[in-house]
Amino acid sequence: MRNCFKLILVFSLLVVFPGVISAGDGTSLKRQYKRPLEIKFPRTARYSPQLVTLGKMLFFDTRLSGKNNLNCASCHNPSFGYEVPVKTPIGATLTPLQRQAPSLLNMAWVSPLFWDGRADTLEEQAVGPISHPDEMDGNFNIIVKRLKRSAEYRKFFRYLFPKTGITRENLLKAIATYERTIVAGWAPFDKWIDGDDTAISNSAKRGFVIFNGVGKCASCHQGWNFTDNQFHDIGLPIKKVDLGRAVQEPDNPFAKYAFKTPTLRNLTHRAPFMHDGSLRSLEEVVDHYIHGVIKRSSTSPKIRNVPLTASQKADLLAFLKSLTAERQDVSMPILPN
Ligand code: HEC
Ligand code: HEC
Repeated sequence: MRNCFKLILVFSLLVVFPGVISAGDGTSLKRQYKRPLEIKFPRTARYSPQLVTLGKMLFFDTRLSGKNNLNCASCHNPSFGYEVPVKTPIGATLTPLQRQAPSLLNMAWVSPLFWDGRADTLEEQAVGPISHPDEMDGNFNIIVKRLKRSAEYRKFFRYLFPKTGITRENLLKAIATYERTIVAGWAPFDKWIDGDDTAISNSAKRGFVIFNGVGKCASCHQGWNFTDNQFHDIGLPIKKVDLGRAVQEPDNPFAKYAFKTPTLRNLTHRAPFMHDGSLRSLEEVVDHYIHGVIKRSSTSPKIRNVPLTASQKADLLAFLKSLTAERQDVSMPILPN
């Protein structure tokens, strides 16, 4: 009787408001992808345009490296979606590092940091690449001395940090604040979410439905930045053993071979893909999810092969490509000598 009543209710709703139910569902799904309009800065490092300018100078300044030859952009190059187009980047030792450089897009919304989440804040994270002998091989005492030789840097730091001037902490704060301003630009997908029905193709719209439905992609690539900030083993072949998150969480069986879900923004500039750079193109990535997922004890229960047809695969790819922002030029800072 109660079921019968429910059926009548749904039926009469459909008669009175045709389309309401399906349109309502689509709208609430689309709402989950709405972009935030502001960057949230931590209370300990408030936004100021001057601090961002200084941070950007330091991001591009090779004097932060041991031999004055590497900067953050050596591996997080704005032209390649803040990555580099190699399997794994090459640092101070001139040999490839163990992992791919992740994109620095939308870092203000990402925590913890690194593929295995071993750093909590951008300030803490930046210590790693600067001082690691395989990356920039820098030494903070030497870096501070080098920067103090420049009258312009002295002036800049004194203005922003009147009491302390050029210090390791202030340098890290400036870089981190600049990083928080690196935000992926508006993509055709965002325009579509904002109500412009013509912004993406019908194929991309079908791809969005696959992404959230049969593809099960959205169970990990969630929200406007397409990440749950969690760690998963997605069943990639193991070419070189890298335990991933398991080093942080040795007792969690699902942490083995698990890496942080990356953002899917601006993918078309960011090949190769995955923590080991093992997949060369978006086609290879989608093929992995269709038939490459290896089941082992650590593989995420959220993942299994999704048998998509050729046209569904094309739709999913069209959707992924609609997440690339329209061209955003990044100006290079002029650095003091
Ligand atoms: C020689 C290459 C190289 C240089 C130079 C470099 N990085 Fe990285 N960066 C990497 C790699 C590789 C990783 C991933 C390492 C890991 O997860 O274990 C990474 C990770 C990161 C992350 C974490 C991103 C995330 O999704 O969690 C941030 C933030 C970052 N780097 C910022 C910087 C900054 C700031 C600088 C300059 C001070 C810098 N990097 C210099 C290679 C580099
Ligand atoms: C169980 C969670 C999960 C599911 C489900 C999932 N992904 Fe992923 N995705 C990840 C993780 C984690 C990585 C990084 C894995 C690694 O490097 O070891 C990743 C990597 C990627 C990358 C490469 C990004 C980069 O920066 O290298 C793309 C593209 C991608 N996924 C798209 C998809 C699509 C499309 C689907 C649905 C067919 C999907 N993902 C389903 C968690 C997931």
